[in-house]
Amino acid sequence: MKVMELRAFGLDDAASLVAAERPVPRPAAGQLLLRLRAAALNYRDVEIAAGHYGMPVQLPRVPVSDGVGKVVEVGAGVTRFVPGDRAIPVFFPDWVDGDFHAGVFARQLGSSLDGVLAEYRLVHEAEAVKPPPALSDAAAASLSIAGLTAWNALVDARLQPGQSLLVIGTGGVAMAALQLAPLFGADSIVVSGSQAKLERLAAHGLARGVNRQRTPDWGQAVWALSGGRGVDLVLETGGATLPQSTIALRPGGQMAMVGYLAGTQVSLDLRSLFIAKRARLAGHTVGSRTHFEALLRALARHPIEPWIDAEFALADSRAALQRLAGGEGTGKVLIRF
Ligand SMILES: NC(=O)c1ccc[n+]([C@@H]2O[C@H](COP(=O)([O-])OP(=O)(O)OC[C@H]3O[C@@H](n4cnc5c(N)ncnc54)[C@H](OP(=O)(O)O)[C@@H]3O)[C@@H](O)[C@H]2O)c1
Repeated sequence: MKVMELRAFGLDDAASLVAAERPVPRPAAGQLLLRLRAAALNYRDVEIAAGHYGMPVQLPRVPVSDGVGKVVEVGAGVTRFVPGDRAIPVFFPDWVDGDFHAGVFARQLGSSLDGVLAEYRLVHEAEAVKPPPALSDAAAASLSIAGLTAWNALVDARLQPGQSLLVIGTGGVAMAALQLAPLFGADSIVVSGSQAKLERLAAHGLARGVNRQRTPDWGQAVWALSGGRGVDLVLETGGATLPQSTIALRPGGQMAMVGYLAGTQVSLDLRSLFIAKRARLAGHTVGSRTHFEALLRALARHPIEPWIDAEFALADSRAALQRLAGGEGTGKVLIRF
């Protein structure tokens, strides 16, 4: 089978991510053998390939965590899947249920464990979920990190009908949140660095927006767009954008701190944010298998096709990562097998 191996860090180096041949593995007891059908990239895949992910990555490594495959063979004792089912390997195999704990970080797909850029991959049945038939392969492949992180942020904040959501940028997590917000009855506002992207989203009725290049102090503009009430929830994928998103937040509103596209360091007036405004700030780290199953139940009833930016063949995975790194796209970069 063909796999993509990350052998050196650095996306500009053609020898960093190369196609290799490996034998097709056989499932041991409890395992599924998946024939991968689609994979989707996340910002962390760019960080991993570039060599500046926050955790050590040993090479060679099969990169990329998110994907969906068809079960072609099952090992002894498997009860949750049968051949022919589709399966999505979960990002944190050690977080099945219950509260988040730091131990879940040790094993994660595409960094400490091999990921999904392989024609075949083994996964333990306890470390996979089954997408409903209503979801396309592209949709199923896009959920493990981006979809689940967005879902958990909205669920955790108890986003209500009639409330408003602010997302930063038009990347995978932000677009997933924009597409999920209608399930919660919420309206969305987006802050983007691209006027063309804002116009496309508005044309699809997805969100009203503010251009952060034209309006660097965009917090007030978002506040005005919200009708002078402030937004109820900010999905903070920018990180260092917090001083502006804080201005856009309504008194008593919530911040879901998810990412750091604009940087990890900020200077904040804590008095105005937490005492005068009574903001609530919650950190998010993807989610458990149980969270994922709740998302899949919602999507079985309300299927959503993800916003796909571009599609690549497996052999062109380095170009796919470069596309995401360039930041020109909207939504997910997909790899088809
Ligand atoms: N905590 C978690 O569990 C979790 C899970 C998933 C992702 N994350 C983090 O969340 C962030 C988003 O991930 P992703 O996979 O959705 O990223 P992505 O798809 O790579 O997002 C790229 C988009 O973000 C916007 N952007 C880029 N630089 C920006 C900046 N300086 N300020 C504001 N917006 C900027 C751009 O949109 P526009 O051109 O429209 O501005 C760009 O197209 C990353 O930091 C990632 O590490 C965290």
